This record gives sequence, C-alpha cells and structure tokens, in this order.
Amino acid sequence: MAKAKVDLPDKVPEHVAIIMDGNGRWAKQRGLPRLAGHRAGTENLRRIIEACVEFGIKYLTIYAFSTENWGRPEDEVSGLMGIFDEVFERELTELHKQGAKLNHIGRLDEVRESLREKVIKGMELTKNNKRLVLNVAFNYGGRDEIVQAVKSIIKDGVEAENVNADVIADHLYTAGMPDPDLVIRTSGEQRISNFLIWQAAYAEWVFPETLWPDFGREELLAAIREFGKRERRYGLVLQN
Ligand code: IPE
Ligand code: IPE
Ligand code: MG
Repeated sequence: MAKAKVDLPDKVPEHVAIIMDGNGRWAKQRGLPRLAGHRAGTENLRRIIEACVEFGIKYLTIYAFSTENWGRPEDEVSGLMGIFDEVFERELTELHKQGAKLNHIGRLDEVRESLREKVIKGMELTKNNKRLVLNVAFNYGGRDEIVQAVKSIIKDGVEAENVNADVIADHLYTAGMPDPDLVIRTSGEQRISNFLIWQAAYAEWVFPETLWPDFGREELLAAIREFGKRERRYGLVLQN
C-alpha cells in the first residue's frame, strides 16, 4: 500500500540543524549507563534521515560531539568514539542508498585515525549524492570554526578592507551552504552550546522536551509544523 502523503506546511525549512541532547538523561531514567543512551541516540538517526528525505529537507546538520565534550570522563569519551566508529561503518551503505551526501564539519585532524578514515571514505562514497546533505558536526565548536576561518582568511592574503560577512561565511565549514532555517534542541535545554553560532544568527529555534533517543519522525514533523507558523522578520517591519 502506498504511504499516505504527509501534510506539510507551505514553508518547509531547507536546512534543519539539530542539537541531539538528552542521551545521558534517557539512560539514567532507565537505570542504564550513559553509553547505552548514546547508543540509543545513534540508532534513532536513521529514521530522522529518512524523514528528512521524505519531507524534502535539503540539508541536515547534526551536533554529534562538541569541542567541549572532550572534557567528559575518559570512559564516556572513549565509549563514544567506539560508537561513532561503529555507526559510520554500519550506516554508510544506508546513507548512500537514501541519496545523502555525508559532510563533516569540525576538526577532523584531531580525531583518531580509524574514525577519520571512515569519515573520509564516507564523504568520498557519497560525494555525488543530491537528495540530502548530511553535515555531521563532530569535534565541532562554533568559536573554533570562526578562529579557523580567520586564520584561513589571513593565509589567503585578504586585505582588511575586503573582509565582510560573505568572506567570513565562505571560510566556515559550511561554505556554500544556506544557513539553517530551523534549529531543534531536544531534551528541553534552551541554549546554543557553541553550535553554529555564526550560521544560526536568524534561525528559528524550537526546544522540544523529548530526549534525543525518543525523538522520531512525528516529533520532527511537529517541529516543522511549528516552523511553518513562524514569521521570519530579519529585523525588518513586515507589511501585511
Ligand atoms: C548529547 O547527550 C550527546 C552528546 C553530547 C555526545 P548528553 O550526553 O549531553 O545527554 P544529557 O544532556 O547528559 O542528558
Ligand atoms: C551539546 O550538548 C553538544 C552535543 C549535543 C553534541 P551538551 O550536553 O554537551 O551541552 P551542555 O553542556 O548541556 O551545554
Ligand atoms: Mg547534554
């Protein structure tokens, strides 16, 4: 039986970014170790990617690991690296089948070799896919991204008077991509935590209470519907 067509608002965000938060609390509620929450959190990614393709979203940026997350206990960090290793291995074929193009944002040079190689292999395999761009923010920090951008602008020899917002945007990891229209932070926390601090300047934000491992297609749809009701003003006065 063909799937009924989903009722989407007129305005669907082109670029959705997600702060996937709440894995630890999800595990705690079940009396499980934090890593069990991280594992559940990655298992849920596949359905979100599928739903993004279904809803016609063109860019999905997910915050997987921040530059600050290295400061967590050593066993959580190494456990997380092991989970990422498995996920890149396991999900790559599926991602490719979905027509998604994998892109990494953040500092790949500081990531252990086995993982770095998998990410590079994944980007190579999926580079011609057009349906969805999946940006994985991994060892990503918004401030670090801006520092890297400033360094590369200086290295490119750009004169001070020629530096403008477009030049900066062109030196970020997201160069050439549209800014996120909608940022979702799960788990009820309401802060940016160093995510896309430049690019999200005019994004619409939603803060569902759902913990990330429980955030599925329906919750994503609810966030998109909420976005559809928002009036984006960009600092202007709109005439009705
Ligand atoms: C988000 O879940 C995943 C990462 C930061 C890697 P958390 O681990 O932050 O979960 P909570 O916030 O402790 O519930
Ligand atoms: C942000 O969540 C990072 C990721 C989801 C990868 P955190 O849980 O690390 O952020 P804080 O510490 O609550 O601000
Ligand atoms: Mg958290």
